[in-house]
Amino acid sequence: MKLLILNGVNLNMTGRREKGVYGTRTLEEINAEIEAFCKARGAECEFFQSNLEGELCTKIQQTDADGIVLNAGAFTHYSYALRDAIASVDTPVVEVHMSNVHAREEFRRHSVISEVCRGSVVGFGKNSYILAAESFLL
Ligand code: DQA
Repeated sequence: MKLLILNGVNLNMTGRREKGVYGTRTLEEINAEIEAFCKARGAECEFFQSNLEGELCTKIQQTDADGIVLNAGAFTHYSYALRDAIASVDTPVVEVHMSNVHAREEFRRHSVISEVCRGSVVGFGKNSYILAAESFLL
């Protein structure tokens, strides 16, 4: 089992931006935790982050992973391109948000990708990624 842990726009700033919302751990630290979690369960991980919508679409199209854990950041709320990329492949995608997007600003309550994802994990901080990864390993 191979998982692609895919992070979108501004997620490279995790640990340095809005610490009260997203925590103090950097994306590299979170990725190391996800990797250890997956490795202990015999799964392999690949990590990719981009601030560019098209790069995320290309990665979704070209990955050889069995599943994708995706935190699309703000692209979640308006990127039809990302939605179409997810819909264009058979690889299952689980949507992740560290914060509880339903308890924040109105514009965050709507995801244009949820409908084409297998499921969503929101509101558990860095553990949202772990829970999403676990969903592929059950
Ligand atoms: C986020 C929530 C999004 O609304 C926001 O734009 C992000 C991070 C989260 O992980 O909680 O960049 O996806």
